[in-house]
Amino acid sequence: MKRTHKCNQVTSDLIGQEISVSGWIHRRRDHGGVIFFDLRDDNGLVQVVYNPDSKDTFALAETCRNEYVIFSKGIVQARPEGTVNDNLVTGKVEIVASGLEIVNSSQPIPFQLDEYSSVGEETRLKYRFLDLRRAEMQDNLRLRSKVSTSLRNYLNTQDFVEIETPLLTKATPEGARDYLVPSRTFPGSFFALPQSPQLFKQTLMASGFEKYYQFAKCFRDEDLRADRQPEFTQLDIELSFVESEDVISLITEMIQKVFKETLSVDLGEFPRITYKESIEKYGVDKPDLRNPLKLLEVKNLFKECDFKVFSEPANDEDSRIAAMRVPNGKMLTRKQIDDYTDFVGNYGAKGLAYIRVEDPSKGKEGLQSPIIKFIEDSIIDSLLAVLEVQEGDIIFFGAGKRNIVNDSLAPLRDLIAHDLDLLTCEWAPCWVIDFPMFEKNKSGELTPLHHPFTSPNCSIDELKESPLDAVTDAYDVVLNGTELGGGSVRIHDTKMQNTVLNLLNIDDKEADEKFGFLISALQHGCPPHAGLAIGFDRLIMLMTGSDSIRDVIAFPKTQTASCLLTDAPGQAAQDQLEELHIRFQGLDKEE
Ligand code: AMO
Ligand code: AMP
Repeated sequence: MKRTHKCNQVTSDLIGQEISVSGWIHRRRDHGGVIFFDLRDDNGLVQVVYNPDSKDTFALAETCRNEYVIFSKGIVQARPEGTVNDNLVTGKVEIVASGLEIVNSSQPIPFQLDEYSSVGEETRLKYRFLDLRRAEMQDNLRLRSKVSTSLRNYLNTQDFVEIETPLLTKATPEGARDYLVPSRTFPGSFFALPQSPQLFKQTLMASGFEKYYQFAKCFRDEDLRADRQPEFTQLDIELSFVESEDVISLITEMIQKVFKETLSVDLGEFPRITYKESIEKYGVDKPDLRNPLKLLEVKNLFKECDFKVFSEPANDEDSRIAAMRVPNGKMLTRKQIDDYTDFVGNYGAKGLAYIRVEDPSKGKEGLQSPIIKFIEDSIIDSLLAVLEVQEGDIIFFGAGKRNIVNDSLAPLRDLIAHDLDLLTCEWAPCWVIDFPMFEKNKSGELTPLHHPFTSPNCSIDELKESPLDAVTDAYDVVLNGTELGGGSVRIHDTKMQNTVLNLLNIDDKEADEKFGFLISALQHGCPPHAGLAIGFDRLIMLMTGSDSIRDVIAFPKTQTASCLLTDAPGQAAQDQLEELHIRFQGLDKEE
């Protein structure tokens, strides 16, 4: 039998015609004497009816089960009155079958496609081929394909060249652990899978390609979360003879266009905010600007206060006191406030002070709070004034080490906006700019905020003198509180590059071993250049409204970086290991 129509094409204009369709039996209903199949192919569903009048066909239909693959032919007819399904394009008609061919049977499936949510993600990932048959997953991967086409079209019309860079390569320092691949031909040596194509794209600039892009597979062995995979895709971009402004406007236009073309969404302008301002106002460098809540620094008010919880951080350089005014927060119950206090406790906060504003005209008398009795009236008056409080507000306070206050109040801000339904719009993009070059890690060592190839906005001497004060031409594009992409103007001067590496305790010898080829490229006529990489999976996750990055990747890894479908990673055969000169030490190979 040969297919004449896709399921979705079977509509009223075919009434009376004999056609044939093919696909999977999505749902089979046996109404005692009449059998109905909802037949599914990759673009829709159609109802096929089997009557005992066609004896052989009916007998065959009786043997069919869900997810069998069939061809079926018959006459299209209008559905009887009362059985029309307005949710389906094909809902006004059905095919009265006169022939059926079973192409392949299916074992009973481990979950019904419309009951996937009750089975848990493990089963979905193990039987990914079934999970991917679901309309939602089909839609996600189809949108992914449309978006990559739209992005490619945009970049191609702007004269970009698509160039692939190697996967078997040397380490790229993007802050995660590397995935290593042992070399057979160089015993004891390893390739690293790239954390990004950063070094190669800069080398391509030195090679005279002025506009490069690539959909690049990147590999990072890091702690996984809902928006992180060990293997993911970047849309990686680099340009020569440009400044940050050029990259920012190009990428803004590209993202605006792709949203318009594929979702008919107008994202509007992308406001810019400096890193410093973002941390102060939102506690993070990827603010969700749909959320109207803001943190206000009120440290200066509490320098002379008797309440130790506030006066200590007020007089400590590394601390802050942030106040977050929640309009209409009076709706929050005592239980909710206790839950929020526990919530910030998970991030190391020692408490969550709050003030309920019942009647602001009455000053202290109009407030309700466990802390106001410890605070002088004049301070309370100033506080109410700077916060511009209104009746019904609740004000939350985080006091303590700056990172703890930020790390706890930023997610609390998201949680409260969610609980009180405060988001003001559907999409809020922005650029975060002026990132510092370095920060100190927990061991007190300098680490780059982006990567060590980012160009600081100062001289070599100034950088050496006070590295923590150096600001860079780095920029992140953020959408709805998710970091979509990041990039920077790069160092193209060898002396500056060596200075940065030295500050990171990488001496010239180690630099040469690790990135000698890049440094050599810088020494042989490298143009000024800048670029950025968009997390392509994250972009699709946002565009599809998915909660997990795994829902927009055909064959993703679990939280522990394994693939349940293929059972990877797997063990290697002894002879392979011997060829690679690998022997396990302190690990039972059977483990
Ligand atoms: P960065 O490390 O910021 O920059 O990565 C760029 C973007 O890639 C996405 N991303 C991830 N997505 C899924 N899973 C992960 N584990 C993961 N890690 C990162 C994020 C991020 O914004 N070479 C630089 C870019 C440049 O400077 O041009 C880089 O890789 O959306
Ligand atoms: P305590 O003195 O610990 O009983 O705290 C008094 C009030 O201040 C309580 O409402 C606490 O939740 C709050 N609180 C304590 N520590 C902090 C802190 N670091 N930041 C904000 N509020 C705090």
